[in-house]
Amino acid sequence: MGRLVIVSNRVAVPKRGEPAAAGGLAVALKDAFSSRGGLWFGWSGTASPEPADMVRHARRAGVDYAVIDLSQAAYEGFYAGYANSALWPMFHFRLGLLSYDRDQAGCYRQVNQRYAEKLMPLLRPDDTIWVHDYQMIPLGAQLRAMGAKQRIGYFHHIPFPPWAVFAAMPGAEDLIRDLLSYDVVGVQTNRDLTGLIDCMAQGTGMKVRPGPEVRLRGRRVQLRAFPISIATEEFSDLAARSVNSADAKRLEASLAGRAMVIGAERLDYTKGLPERFRAFAALLEHFPEHRGQVTYLQVAARSREDVESYKDLKREIETLTGQINGDWSDADWTPVRYVGRAVPRDTLAGYYRMAKVGLVTPLRDGMNLVAKEYVAAQDPENPGVLVLSKFAGAAEGLPEALLVNPIDAVGMAETMHAALTMGLDERRERHGAMLRRLQEHDVGAWAKGFLDVLEGREPANSAPERA
Ligand code: F6P
Repeated sequence: MGRLVIVSNRVAVPKRGEPAAAGGLAVALKDAFSSRGGLWFGWSGTASPEPADMVRHARRAGVDYAVIDLSQAAYEGFYAGYANSALWPMFHFRLGLLSYDRDQAGCYRQVNQRYAEKLMPLLRPDDTIWVHDYQMIPLGAQLRAMGAKQRIGYFHHIPFPPWAVFAAMPGAEDLIRDLLSYDVVGVQTNRDLTGLIDCMAQGTGMKVRPGPEVRLRGRRVQLRAFPISIATEEFSDLAARSVNSADAKRLEASLAGRAMVIGAERLDYTKGLPERFRAFAALLEHFPEHRGQVTYLQVAARSREDVESYKDLKREIETLTGQINGDWSDADWTPVRYVGRAVPRDTLAGYYRMAKVGLVTPLRDGMNLVAKEYVAAQDPENPGVLVLSKFAGAAEGLPEALLVNPIDAVGMAETMHAALTMGLDERRERHGAMLRRLQEHDVGAWAKGFLDVLEGREPANSAPERA
């Protein structure tokens, strides 16, 4: 079996002597990389006015990393521009936030072309290439144009809307046609698969056959849902350890016996943060028994700070925090604790385990792994309750969570109240069902599922796994 070549927009090369970053793709691919060798290619995360036009190589724990830098102009046009000001809002159904600029769209293709040109000489004929996410859609077609004959798969980590939404993007047909260069196009959920099939049919005019698949010039493009997951056992162990850490103990002492509800994500307008803050205010308004008794900890890691809509969101959250605390605080109780930066993963795992309620209420989300991590982090004997948006991909595989529509503040407040007052038997029952599913379908199973289809080890029409 040939090497596995991963292409993702950002590549975090582990420091010498340190393990690969915990979580995410690095964990998912550990087994595949160690059994067959691998190459991970992408952007170093560094942008400078005049970047060196070279590929930097590193080898860590049997994996070869190859990274390139971006120019400041490419960073602005490709990353902050087209990828995160046009594609990101469109894929999340937020057409009102879509900001299209033709030069930025051109820059997106040029940066992908540069990735393709730098990657092509590194490829071997028997490699399997797996491209990740919306930043890299044209890459497969660009590699094919340079003669790449390898199996190439694409996995889309974020939602896939139907054509009625997708078609609003200038050049929508070209983007959809780019997907036809891949052998497998994977999305997160059945809902996304429906969107992808609709876009394929309407955007290319081609027939989508049972499978589902599209056939062209003797090749077939398989379309499938592969719900991503987490390293469940590892995260459960981490949370069980971290709950006893000094950080967790300090937090526990500061709560003074009050219940904690927690939210944690990147500060992104897709995550439904203002809606969640308003719902928490509604909880205090409509259910007076929680006043002085519940603390809401919100961790929001800064993200994409060069994009205007993210700056607006930051201001809105800061204002809401001040308003809610001004309206409801007591001298010895602050209802909202807002931490506007990333918290280390192990610390967060301990916090999840301490929280009676996990709030994962995005307006749209591809999957949302915080929902799965919150479940994995719980003490099975005395678990907390997950309140989950029905618009997160995770809701398709976690029906035992309390599902909410984040637009409905009072409805969400009622659900938070139900979560805070749920009895132990029901909590155990709901949590047990979710945890079992996450143990069966962890991130390793997800990666294997995708690669089995890409490398022809599984019939194309078998049902997508649930997780
Ligand atoms: O899951 C969506 C995604 O955009 C990934 O592609 C990306 O790695 C992650 O979110 C974080 O986003 P960014 O790289 O823009 O900080």
